[in-house]
Amino acid sequence: MKRHLLTASALEKVLSNTKTLRVNKEGKIKVSLSMDGQSIIKCFYFYHKGFYRRYCKTIAGEFIANASQLLARDILTVFPSAWYRCLESHCDVIIYPILQGQTVKEIIDETNDFTVLSTLANYIAKLHHKNIYFRAGHLDNYLLRSDNNFAIIDIDNLRFSLSLRKIAKNLVFIYRHSLENEQKYFLIYGFNRFLDNYFDASNLPTYKKNIIKYWIKYYLRRMKSYLARMSITV
Ligand SMILES: Nc1ncnc2c1ncn2[C@@H]1O[C@H](COP(=O)(O)OP(=O)(O)OP(=O)(O)O)[C@@H](O)[C@H]1O
Ligand SMILES: [Mg+2]
Repeated sequence: MKRHLLTASALEKVLSNTKTLRVNKEGKIKVSLSMDGQSIIKCFYFYHKGFYRRYCKTIAGEFIANASQLLARDILTVFPSAWYRCLESHCDVIIYPILQGQTVKEIIDETNDFTVLSTLANYIAKLHHKNIYFRAGHLDNYLLRSDNNFAIIDIDNLRFSLSLRKIAKNLVFIYRHSLENEQKYFLIYGFNRFLDNYFDASNLPTYKKNIIKYWIKYYLRRMKSYLARMSITV
């Protein structure tokens, strides 16, 4: 996809006609919704200069490359229709269509129905089966659609290689992220129950499941000491 340059005033104009959904720590717009409600405008700010900025991979570039690879693997996701760079604002902007559906977090918040976590565990097993390591895979980045299929968003932080250790890390991440954000979902549903759902859905041989369980214990121990340092009690 070709990247087009934007001036700061052109970028301001693009963003002024949108509804801000997320801002970053500095208060800059991160995710916006277009006026017609049909598109997402996502901004990635970069802080490196010169050679590095010119020649190295950018987060927006990773996002677009991952979208192509996911679609080739039959995984539903967003595919950007445009990519802009504003050098004055140190920002890349991508635009992609809104997808029908609700994130897992939104569903639980709205319905108080935790069984969606079982459907999610099945889907994560499917991603892992396809060697997809969705590192940003937390409850607000999985979108459940009306046909009960999932789509994933926020796909810049994703790899197409996976080990048994990374599977464990990925499963514990979703739990840890939830606790860090004061979400009680897994405490109510049961993280072990979620893991059972995952192992039931995965077609891995028993010895591989046991290795994953070993690493899960390892990451849970690390998670507990990490949360304790942040004064979060489980
Ligand atoms: N294509 C899309 N279709 C539907 N909703 C979307 C789409 N993209 C983003 N959203 C909504 O906007 C929210 C924020 O988007 P996104 O996850 O891309 O931003 P983020 O700030 O990077 O999130 P994170 O906290 O995961 O880093 C999502 O949780 C979702 O509710
Ligand atoms: Mg997100």
